[in-house]
Amino acid sequence: MMLDLTRTGYRPNPETIQALNSLMAQKGSGARALLVTGEAGTGKTALAEAIADALEARERYYYVQLHSWTEGAKFFDYQSGSGDSEKGFLTKVAEATQKTGWTVACLDEMDKAPESFEALFLDWLQTGRVPGKPGEHLYTNLDRLLVLVTSNGMREHTEPFMRRCRRLRMERMSHELAVELLFTRTKTSEKASSLTVDLAHACERVDETVISLHEMTQFLNEARHVCQSLVDMKAATVAWLMRRDEPENILRSFEVQRILPLLWAEIESLQQAQSLGVSTCYATVD
Ligand SMILES: Nc1ncnc2c1ncn2[C@@H]1O[C@H](COP(=O)(O)OP(=O)(O)O)[C@@H](O)[C@H]1O
Ligand SMILES: [Mg+2]
Repeated sequence: MMLDLTRTGYRPNPETIQALNSLMAQKGSGARALLVTGEAGTGKTALAEAIADALEARERYYYVQLHSWTEGAKFFDYQSGSGDSEKGFLTKVAEATQKTGWTVACLDEMDKAPESFEALFLDWLQTGRVPGKPGEHLYTNLDRLLVLVTSNGMREHTEPFMRRCRRLRMERMSHELAVELLFTRTKTSEKASSLTVDLAHACERVDETVISLHEMTQFLNEARHVCQSLVDMKAATVAWLMRRDEPENILRSFEVQRILPLLWAEIESLQQAQSLGVSTCYATVD
């Protein structure tokens, strides 16, 4: 079976497509597990969701964000504060795999959890065994399970865990894809989207940070719907595209000074086109 992401809105690169094909082709050696590494904003979590969509497993999509304070015991059945028995994450996943169809589990940002977690999950990936009440085990149907583990690379992964997973390294999305996603999300124009990506990259160079697609989207929406002048747009730039507290440095940068007026001209023409559209609309109503 092939895993086709085209209808999910996610845009996989060729390496991602190959990794998914490789995963689906695996047979009978424990769970299919993909370790996706890469910087924040490279699409790791979005990939897990897209896979769940593509496998029609939205109802059987199990997600957990790991933290340094996450308790290993909560992945199995445990006693809650009120003394009731609560189902752990792995119990829920194991139960879901008893039903027909695929189950997808996402262990997000494994690098934030202590190394000992990797041993815990490794055993499960190999045997599917989830301890329940004393002396009882539940078995995960590993043939119908896909596990995505993500990592931002805050720490090294343990050897055995690495060896167990098909690995995929995510690179930063291309300029082209960023423009396309921004255009889809803001419904502005390709030109405004492209200039915004350029502007964000220029700010990144000064600040030595990475601006996310979310920040660019918020910035462009503010420019389009709130800003009424170039001065307003400078404020939006400082607020969304800058991380440090020296706005003057960024606003003085050659690239930023070049792009801002071009972007404002484009935004103004979009705003004018819309207000004209609105008045034509009124005219016909009259
Ligand atoms: N290849 C892609 N196709 C579609 N959207 C993407 C892609 N890569 C990233 N995104 C979008 O970029 C944003 C950040 O992605 P996310 O999955 O949260 O990154 P990460 O988990 O790696 O930090 C999300 O809005 C996501 O939908
Ligand atoms: Mg993420």
